[in-house]
Amino acid sequence: MLEEALSFHAESKEQLEAFKSRFLGKKGVLTELFAQMKTVGAEDRKEFGQKVNAIKQAAEEKISHYVAVFENSESNTVSDTDLSLPGQFYPLGSMHPVSKVRRQILEIFSRIGFTIAEGPEIEDDWHNFSALNFPPEHPARDMQDTFFMEGEGQFALRTHTSSVQVRIMENGKPPIRITAPGRVYRNEAISARAHCLFHQVEGLYIDKNVSFADLKQTLLYFAKEMFGADTKIRLRPSYFPFTEPSAEMDVSCNICSGKGCNICKGTGWLEIMGCGMVDPQVLTNCGIDPQHYSGYAFGMGVERITMLKYSIKDLRLFFENDIKFLEQFR
Ligand code: PHE
Repeated sequence: MLEEALSFHAESKEQLEAFKSRFLGKKGVLTELFAQMKTVGAEDRKEFGQKVNAIKQAAEEKISHYVAVFENSESNTVSDTDLSLPGQFYPLGSMHPVSKVRRQILEIFSRIGFTIAEGPEIEDDWHNFSALNFPPEHPARDMQDTFFMEGEGQFALRTHTSSVQVRIMENGKPPIRITAPGRVYRNEAISARAHCLFHQVEGLYIDKNVSFADLKQTLLYFAKEMFGADTKIRLRPSYFPFTEPSAEMDVSCNICSGKGCNICKGTGWLEIMGCGMVDPQVLTNCGIDPQHYSGYAFGMGVERITMLKYSIKDLRLFFENDIKFLEQFR
């Protein structure tokens, strides 16, 4: 009897009512048991009484429990689901380190007014090369091994996000202040240091009187935000067809604080991006008058920055989707 009361489970108000009258009703189990008590011998009466009381208590507890359950529920039935059980655990994924660093780069530039622009990954010759001052047959085209598309027209997978610069300048008016994140493709053998697919973030700022000093200050701000307040930068002369002058930017090695280690190959510096003042011819190509406007541009590889930030030695790790590697970047 006690077992029955303890294991009772009501799925509807009707079941609860039935249970109530079975145990506590006038002709119920307990009325019967209390009546039997008189017939039990004096020596057993105490024990018998305790058992009956236990049944009574169990039944009453069940009843008040289900009365409360039905009061709180809008329907007359409750499901079998025990809502007090702990929830089911779904393991959380983690963000890919390249996505994480890309977001961080964009966030740093958005704080100083850069908005985000995007462009297509399949580009025509004009946006990827010609408008950016790479004339046909120009040897600089060899700097970027290109995947050309089959078929008519000169389409290719973009080799850099500088193509987005062109699209933005053609379609907008200065002041322009954008970052352009995205995938780029180069026909290179895959190794620890190179891949045929990677990610860049481009920056472009066009306005009246934009100078090289503005570029340098912006990049110094970025380097300190990205790699820490003690980071130093240096600019080395370089060449890109679409910027003049052009430079390559290094940051002081954050592993050895510039003393020289195997990450920076003993130099104390790490190269992180290309940059320069937008060539006046590129402004003209894109419909902006270089007499009135000037600007700077910069472009960086997201994988490269991620490798430096987390001391990752092999680029291929980013593309293998090995959970053990990815889980480290929660
Ligand atoms: N597009 C260049 C590259 O992919 C980087 C760059 C961007 C350099 C903007 C200067 C200005 O190597």
